[in-house]
Formats: sequence, C-alpha cells, structure tokens
Amino acid sequence: MATMTTERLELVPLDPDRDAESLHAMYGDPDHYSFGPEEPTVDVAATHARLTEELAGNGGWTWVLRLRPDTRALGTIGLFFDQGTSIRGLSWGLRRDHWGRGLMGEAAPVVVDHLLAQPGIDGVEAWIDTRNTRSLGVARRARLDEKARLARVYADHTAQQVVMARAAQPSDGTVLATRPSLPVRDVPETCRLLIKVLGLNLSFEYGDPPTFARLGVGPWSGSPGIDVRDADDGEIASVTVTVDIGIPTDVMHDRAVAAGLKILSSPVDQPWHTREFVFCLGEGHRVRVIGPTRPQG
Ligand SMILES: CC(C)(COP(=O)(O)OP(=O)(O)OC[C@H]1O[C@@H](n2cnc3c(N)ncnc32)[C@H](O)[C@@H]1OP(=O)(O)O)[C@@H](O)C(=O)NCCC(=O)NCCS
Repeated sequence: MATMTTERLELVPLDPDRDAESLHAMYGDPDHYSFGPEEPTVDVAATHARLTEELAGNGGWTWVLRLRPDTRALGTIGLFFDQGTSIRGLSWGLRRDHWGRGLMGEAAPVVVDHLLAQPGIDGVEAWIDTRNTRSLGVARRARLDEKARLARVYADHTAQQVVMARAAQPSDGTVLATRPSLPVRDVPETCRLLIKVLGLNLSFEYGDPPTFARLGVGPWSGSPGIDVRDADDGEIASVTVTVDIGIPTDVMHDRAVAAGLKILSSPVDQPWHTREFVFCLGEGHRVRVIGPTRPQG
C-alpha cells in the first residue's frame, strides 16, 4: 500500500491503532450516516473494531486523509469487502468539521487512478444516494459516471442510489439494451396501461393507428424498455417480463389494482431481499414486478 500526496493532503494506509481516536469524530457522528445503512459507533473502541474489521475484509485497501502538516486522520477512502469480483466497491467519508473544502474531491481522483492501475481490479463503483450531492460531486471529480440505479431501503423510507463507476479499460459493450417484445391486440391501450402503471416513457410509435411502439424506462435515447407490437391474427403465446422498480413495491401494486389489472400474485417478500408481485395483461402476458422490501420502521 502506497502513501500518496495531493496538493494539500497526505494519503496514508489506515492504521486502526494510530487513527481510531481521530476517526471516531466521524464514525461516532450520526450525520455521517444520513445516507448509509450503518449505525454510529458508541466509543473509540467500537470505532477501532470497525476499522479493524474493514481492513481484514478489504485486504488492507483503505487510506486515511491527513491535511499536511497535521498528522491526524480526517477521513477515510478505500475499498469495500472483497467479494471475489474484479469490480470493487469504493467508499469515502470525512469528519464533518472538514466537509465542503474540496478535500475528498482532491483525494478521490488520486486513489481511483491508483486502484485502477492494480492487477485484478477492472473497475471501481460507488453506490451513492441520489440526495447525497456532495458525494456525487466527489465521484464526478474522480471521473466516475452513472451506470445504473438501485433501490435502497432505509429504516423508515425507500430511496434510490446511483451506481457511479469507472472502468480501468473503458470499452464498448456488445449489448446496449434488452427489450422484451410483446405481441398484443391493442397497441395504444397496452402502452397506456404500461405507462400509467410502470411510469414508462413512449420513445416512439409507428403507424396510424400504431402497430408498433417502443417504451423506455427513461426518456433518453437508447433507454432499455419494452417493445409492444400488433399480434398477427393467430394465437398469442404469453411471455413474462420482469421489471425492477425503485419505488416501494406496494405503491406499484396499488397502481396496478387501480388500473384494473388482474393481480396473479400479491406482494410477497423474497429471501433474496426483494418484494415482488405479478400482474397480467389482457393477452395473458405476465409482468413480474421486483422492488425493494418494506422499511422496517
Ligand atoms: C461525501 C463527503 C466525503 C464529501 O467530502 P467533502 O470533502 O466535503 O467534499 P468536497 O468538498 O470535495 O465537495 C464535493 C462536492 O460537494 C459540493 N459541495 C460542497 N459544499 C457543499 C454544500 N454545502 N452543499 C452541497 N454541495 C456542496 C462541492 O462543490 C463538490 O461538488 P463539485 O465537485 O461538483 O463542485 C462528506 O460529505 C462525507 O463524509 N459525508 C458523509 C459520509 C458519506 O456520505 N459518504 C459517501 C457515501 S456514498
């Protein structure tokens, strides 16, 4: 593990014995966890234990930030637990009395460049709550871009996280998006229902009346989504489409009920931490909706 320097900072490998006391100002601060699942540590010993566990889990890849010439640790930046993948999770945090001075924005680009030069690391990603604008700013400074969204369940509400990521060797992927293709008897009506319930966007439609329509999960060009097309006169083979959502599953379920759709399976918690239900379109197509579990609060 290398020690690195930036204009104002020294980035030194974390040592819990040396750094726990100073970092307890961060790990014990409830405001540090506004956008995270963990609880504040109760004392320096608990902070020491958490730091030791982190180092054991991530193979030692955590640095502390020091504002030269001061040798106190003001924050940390490093990898998450090693999950055996070449895309590694990244996290950062700073004592609140040093927020807003551009310190993490200065540290992150140097650390990310260093990590992406390591053998076995093909990319780094940070999961950042959409409301954590400071942290999103840090990610952008380190040239991480938005790649995806994930639902996030807090004790009392549901939110979303942006997956901000950067590859060691940027490359053009082969598949740009997947789009199930639904044969239906009434293209405009099916589109109306899917837009109303799932909040999809009409990318374009063809024909008057439309015989083909493309619905996107977002309003942007190239967005993944669902194609809806006129069925030939014959029998329609039903398909199942799985939809990942970022709002509470029960809210989506209520929308489907209000739209008069047939519910094939009511919302149920799955052991893999999702909550799912299934509704049915007129032609027999099934839409399996997979969303976040309910807040526990
Ligand atoms: C996220 C965190 C590390 C940011 O550290 P920081 O040193 O304060 O960040 P910076 O000063 O480099 O600023 C980062 C961005 O926030 C912006 N920012 C600064 N002050 C701000 C303020 N008062 N309000 C909103 N944004 C602000 C900066 O302009 C910068 O964005 P830019 O690069 O687009 O200009 C720090 O706020 C923190 O520890 N938060 C709690 C833990 C946490 O949320 N960790 C990340 C989990 S994903």
